[in-house]
Amino acid sequence: SRPSLLSGRQVLISAGPTFEDLDPVRFLGNRSSGKMGFALAAVAAAMGARVTLVAGPVSLATPPGVQRVDVRRAAQMRDAVLAALPGQDVYIGAAAVADYAPVETQPQKIKKTGETLAVQLVRTPDILAEVAAHAARPHLVVGFAAETNDLDTYARDKLRRKGLDLIAANDVSAQGIGFESEDNALAVFDAERRFDIPRGTKTAVAGALLALIAERLGTRA
Ligand code: C5P
Repeated sequence: SRPSLLSGRQVLISAGPTFEDLDPVRFLGNRSSGKMGFALAAVAAAMGARVTLVAGPVSLATPPGVQRVDVRRAAQMRDAVLAALPGQDVYIGAAAVADYAPVETQPQKIKKTGETLAVQLVRTPDILAEVAAHAARPHLVVGFAAETNDLDTYARDKLRRKGLDLIAANDVSAQGIGFESEDNALAVFDAERRFDIPRGTKTAVAGALLALIAERLGTRA
């Protein structure tokens, strides 16, 4: 990827899972290493962008030149993303945000007294949809979709429903790509077309996705 393709651009990326605490020792979370989002941040910075990375709980080093904000819960990720939104040219929602959070976080460890335990959950805010509908909406809003089946249908539906410009879908049931792995492969959709990014390292895949993004930013000032 050409080093100056994103120079002068501001790119905001969310990455990693979110952890929604049940009590001081337990949480609900998604399987996500954060590697894809961190690769996007590293490559975008190498392409000349000013990058802000809002990271959920992951054990990854901050890529060179990237400004990182650490968060834990979906609500905190939302607040950090919205705070960083003004002036961004691109938002890439690469985080695996928990869909539900406990209504209450118990201040003390829940004791295993009953055979069953009911926990009431509430939907978390859809950060990506909020960004896409925001007054300070970046020129390009890009989402991810992890699917196990009917990739095209679900991805296109998500693109429309959340008001996105691009969606990058991966088949998480495929061997050797996606969750926790070093490689990925993506099917990227805009309103009209599908672009296939073949299997490669997450760095290579990030470069290909950012090239599609840079192309869409074009020569805008
Ligand atoms: O609807 P679904 O969770 O499959 O959509 C995935 C996309 O939406 C990802 O880009 C993810 O980061 C984003 N998302 C979000 N906030 C949520 C749930 C998903 O930003 N609460």
